[in-house]
Amino acid sequence: MEFMSAREAADKWGISQRRVAVLCSENRIAEATMVGNMWIIPTNAEKPIDARSIRYTKDDEKTVKPFLKWAGGKGQLLKEIEQYYPFDHKITKYAEPFVGGGAVLFDVLRKFDIQEVYISDINAELINAYRIIRDNIDELITTLKTYQEEYIPLPTEERKVYYMTKREKFNDLKVNGNETVNIEKAALMIFLNKTCFNGLYRVNKKGLFNVPMGAYKNPMICDEKNLREVSAKLQNVTIVCGDYRESAEFIDEHTFVYFDPPYRPLTDTASFTAYTENLFNDEEQIDLARFVDAMHKKGAKIVVSNSDPKNSNTEDDFFDNIYNAHKIKRVEATRMINCNSELRGKIKELLISNF
Ligand SMILES: C[S@@+](CC[C@H](N)C(=O)[O-])C[C@H]1O[C@@H](n2cnc3c(N)ncnc32)[C@H](O)[C@@H]1O
Repeated sequence: MEFMSAREAADKWGISQRRVAVLCSENRIAEATMVGNMWIIPTNAEKPIDARSIRYTKDDEKTVKPFLKWAGGKGQLLKEIEQYYPFDHKITKYAEPFVGGGAVLFDVLRKFDIQEVYISDINAELINAYRIIRDNIDELITTLKTYQEEYIPLPTEERKVYYMTKREKFNDLKVNGNETVNIEKAALMIFLNKTCFNGLYRVNKKGLFNVPMGAYKNPMICDEKNLREVSAKLQNVTIVCGDYRESAEFIDEHTFVYFDPPYRPLTDTASFTAYTENLFNDEEQIDLARFVDAMHKKGAKIVVSNSDPKNSNTEDDFFDNIYNAHKIKRVEATRMINCNSELRGKIKELLISNF
C-alpha cells in the first residue's frame, strides 16, 4: 500500500493539515497510521464527508498563505501570536524583519487593511522570490507550470535526475547569474522548495543549495491561485534583502513588529540555524535584544519568538536575562525539524512582548 503525508492529504483534499490530523485521530480515515509523531495516510483514501472540511474549503478559497515551506515556519503558532495583534486590531503599519516563509505576514495581510508593510530577510534567494512574485507573476507562473508538467509524470528515478539538473542550474545562477535570470531563479527556488526533502533550505560552505529530493508523490509546484493572491497582497510591500537592523528607519510608534530570528539551538547538534551562509550565535541574539529595546523606546508594539532553552536545560535563563525588561510567555509547539529525535514532538517556545 502506498502512503501520503498529512500535508499531502491536506493539499489533495483542500482542507488544513491540522484538520487531517484530527480526522486521523478520530479514526475517520481507514488505515491512517501514526509513525513517530506524524500521520501517514493511504494514497487511495477518500476524503471523509465532514461539515468542517466543507467550511475549510470555502475559507481556503479566499485565503492567502505562505508560498514556501520554511524551517521555523510559524503556521502552528498563529493562534498564540494573533492574540498579540495590537492597536485594537487596527494595525496600519507592520514590519517583519526576519520574514522567512511569512506565516505571520500572510495572516496579518489577510486580516487587516495595512497601509505600510516592511519585510526583510538576509536570504537573497528568498527575497528574490518575494520580489518576483510581486513584480513578475505571469512569467513566474508560466515557468512553474512548465516545471510541473515536466516533473510530475516522471517515474522516481527520472524525477531524481530532473531534480538534480534543476538544483545545479539554481546553484549556477546563484553564483554566476545577474539580474536577468531573477525570474528563472525564483521559479527554481520554488520548484526546489516544493520537491526537496522537507522543504528545507540548506547550503554548504560554498553557499550551494545541497538538499536532496524529497518523497512527495504529488507536490503542488505551481499553486497559481495562491501565488496570484500573494502577488496582489505584496503590491505595496517594501521588500528588503538585508540585515534586520535596516528596519529601524521604518519602525515608529504606529508599527507592529514581529521578530522571528533563527532559533537558538536547543542542543549543540540541533543547529538548524543554517538557513543561509550566516549563522546567528548568542552574541547576535543579545544584539537583537538590544535592538528590540531601542525599537521599544520608539514606542513600537513588538513580539519576538524563539526556542526555549529550558526544554533541554531548566537552569538556562538566557532569554529571561536578555529580555528582562519585557514579558515572556512559554507556549507549546511541535517542532518537526530537529536532528535530535528526542526533541521532536511537543516542546515549549517563547513569545516575548513589550506590551
Ligand atoms: C525562524 S526563520 C523565520 C521563519 C518565519 N517566521 C516563517 O514563518 O516562515 C528566521 C529567518 O531569519 C533570516 N535571517 C537570519 N539572519 C538574519 C539577519 N541578520 N537579518 C535578517 N534576516 C535574517 C533567515 O534567513 C530566516 O529566513
